[in-house]
Amino acid sequence: MCRSPAGSVSTKPCASVPSELAELTAAIAWVRQARHIAVLTGAGVSAESGVPTFRDAQTGYWAQFRAEDMATPEGFRAHPQQVWDWYQFRRSLVAQVQPNAAHRALAAFAQQHPERITLVTQNVDGLHQRAGSPQVLCLHGDLLRNRWLDRPCPHCDLENTVDAHPPYCDACGNRVRPDVVWFGEPLPLAVLDAAQAAARACDLMLVVGTAGAVYPAAGLAHSARAAGARVVVVNTAASALDDVAHAVLRGTAAAVVPALLGV
Ligand code: OAD
Repeated sequence: MCRSPAGSVSTKPCASVPSELAELTAAIAWVRQARHIAVLTGAGVSAESGVPTFRDAQTGYWAQFRAEDMATPEGFRAHPQQVWDWYQFRRSLVAQVQPNAAHRALAAFAQQHPERITLVTQNVDGLHQRAGSPQVLCLHGDLLRNRWLDRPCPHCDLENTVDAHPPYCDACGNRVRPDVVWFGEPLPLAVLDAAQAAARACDLMLVVGTAGAVYPAAGLAHSARAAGARVVVVNTAASALDDVAHAVLRGTAAAVVPALLGV
C-alpha cells in the first residue's frame, strides 16, 4: 500500500518499494557470496544506542559546537577546560549506553566467519568492541583513552597527574588530552594501512551510518569500488558515498544490518 503525494492511499505498491526490496535482496546475496567483506561504520551505527552523530541537523554535535573549537589541537590549546569537559561529558554518555542490534550483528558475523570480515570504524565510542567485535580498526582513536598533548617529559605519567580540567604533569605542565584523532592530525598509520588493504582486497564493502564527508575514511569506499568490489550503503538519509554504491539501503543500521548479514 502506498500514500500518494496528495495524501490519499492507493492499494497499488509504491514504485520505490519493489526497487528497495530488490536492492536489499541483491545485497543479501552479495553478502552470502562474498569471500571478504570490509565494513566501514560511522556515527549513524551508534545513533540508535543514543550516541549523537556529528552532522545530523539539530541533533548532531556539529549543530551545537564548531568542530574547529572542539576537535582540533588549536581548539584544545585555546580552551582546554571547555574541550576537556566536553570529552568527559561524551565519555560519561557512552558509559551509560549499550551496543545496538547493528553492533551485535557485526560482532556475531565476525564470530561466525572470522576470516570473512574486516571492521573499520570512524567511531571512538567503543561500542563495536563492547558488542564483541574482535580486531576493530579504529581510524579516529579511542574516546576512553588519554595521551599527552605535547612530547612527554621524563616525569609525565598518565597514572600520576595533577587532578584538573584537563589533568597535567606536575613537573612540566604538559596537558592530558583524549586519544582521538582531531582535524588536521594524521590517522594512526598501521590502522589506516590495514583498512586500506582490506578495502583493496574485499569483494564487498558495507558503508554503514556515515555521511562520507571525512577523508581518508570515506576514501576507503572509493578504493574498494576502484578495486572491483561491490559497495552497499546503509543510511537513513542521503550520503556523499551514495554515488559510489551499487546499492543504497535506506533504513536504520539496527534494522538493516542484521537483515543484511543474516545473523
Ligand atoms: P556524521 O554525523 O557525519 O554522519 C552520520 C551519518 O549517519 C549521517 O549520514 C546520517 O544520515 C546517518 N545516520 C543517522 N542515524 C542513522 C541510523 N540510525 N542508521 C543509519 N544511519 C544513520 O558521522 P560520521 O560520518 O561518522 O571525526 O563522521 C565522520 C567523522 O566526522 C567522525 O568520526 C568525527 C566527525 O567529525 C572526528 O572527530 C575526527
